[in-house]
Amino acid sequence: MHRLEISLKQAARKSEINISGGIRRKLGQLISLKAPRRVAIISNQRVFDLYGREVVRSLKAAGFKPIEWLMPEGERYKSFRILEKAVTFLSENRLERDDLVMALGGGVVGDLAGFSAAIYLRGLPLAQVPTTLLSQIDSSVGGKTGINLPTGKNLVGAFHQPASVFIDTETLVSLPPRELVSGFCEMVKQALISDRALFETTVNCLQKAGSNRDFLVSPEFENLIAAHCGFKASIVANDERESTTRSDTKSRRVLNFGHTTAHALETITNYRVFRHGEAVGYGMLVAAELSRNLGLIDAGELKSLREAVSLCGPLPRADNLEINQIIRALKHDKKSVGGQINWVLLEGIGRPRIIEGRLISAKSLRLALRAGLQKESVH
Ligand code: NAD
Ligand code: GLY
Repeated sequence: MHRLEISLKQAARKSEINISGGIRRKLGQLISLKAPRRVAIISNQRVFDLYGREVVRSLKAAGFKPIEWLMPEGERYKSFRILEKAVTFLSENRLERDDLVMALGGGVVGDLAGFSAAIYLRGLPLAQVPTTLLSQIDSSVGGKTGINLPTGKNLVGAFHQPASVFIDTETLVSLPPRELVSGFCEMVKQALISDRALFETTVNCLQKAGSNRDFLVSPEFENLIAAHCGFKASIVANDERESTTRSDTKSRRVLNFGHTTAHALETITNYRVFRHGEAVGYGMLVAAELSRNLGLIDAGELKSLREAVSLCGPLPRADNLEINQIIRALKHDKKSVGGQINWVLLEGIGRPRIIEGRLISAKSLRLALRAGLQKESVH
């Protein structure tokens, strides 16, 4: 089992991350709560059918009183309407300040359950039990919670750090193939902005995982997940609230590598074509082309990045999308500051650099979008 800690300066406390195959069956012994308190599990039907009963059994065996509420499945339910239902459930069951909210599922469940925990009674302790690869290496770590508005994703939310994250690698075996591709893309993103060692280990593991899904429950893959969580934790510990005035290589903003184009692709396709990580796959290719156009990386680094994205698996087509429409959507990016898009580009593997949009010509952007979104750039 791996155990990591994030020291949170702003919250003046620690958040712990536990990683182990089968950990869902031991949650009762591991949660930092004294029995017989209540644990409100928020999940969805699919995930609860797969793993919920084992979690409930473990909590009951340790003397806790678990109750569950299942939200509908899908990104569109990360909404005010469902949030209201979630907090109403907590209220009707008279959850108290020392009880625990447990998010069991992917990033959608994690974000909505986390936000419910952040606002109900002005904050209940939270445990994240992420069950997708994306949520295990990214969304469950770092305390961002929230919901979507019709005008955009994640526009309402709060920073609410989980007291604990429990990552059970065994849950990855039931993931549909596209969810794995999506998680692999986020892994490549994180590896590219961390350092060459993590990049090489990640590429090596993707090669193994591509031909053998049992690899996902191997100690080697567990080590990889721990390394990714360690990297994300180091960024979060340094810049918990994603300061907009920082642009150094350790600022939380660098985690948005690949996300500027990704959000534009998701918006113009109404979130119907790409899984989030798949869009990030294209976003990295576009950012790499821009980095090459600006002379920040060489042809060899561009090639390594393309190969790494290709190892993640097939991405839906993007070369049929309107470049002008993508450019219009880019201008509405919610991460823009003072109306300026801030691109996270690369000066090399492990060397992210934040570049203001005004430094990128319209022609260079068009060329990068055309090259990055080409079908042959991924397979
Ligand atoms: P998701 O939560 O939609 O899960 C993907 C699908 O897999 C769902 O249908 C889900 O029911 C199913 N599923 C989950 N676990 C499963 C399992 N073990 N076996 C079989 N099926 C399973 O998608 P996601 O990629 O995990 O998360 C995406 C969400 O995360 C987005 O809403 C995004 O905005 C958010 N996000 C948040 C942060 C953050 O820092 N808070 C970071 C990145 C992404
Ligand atoms: N997923 C980006 C962040 O947590 O900051």
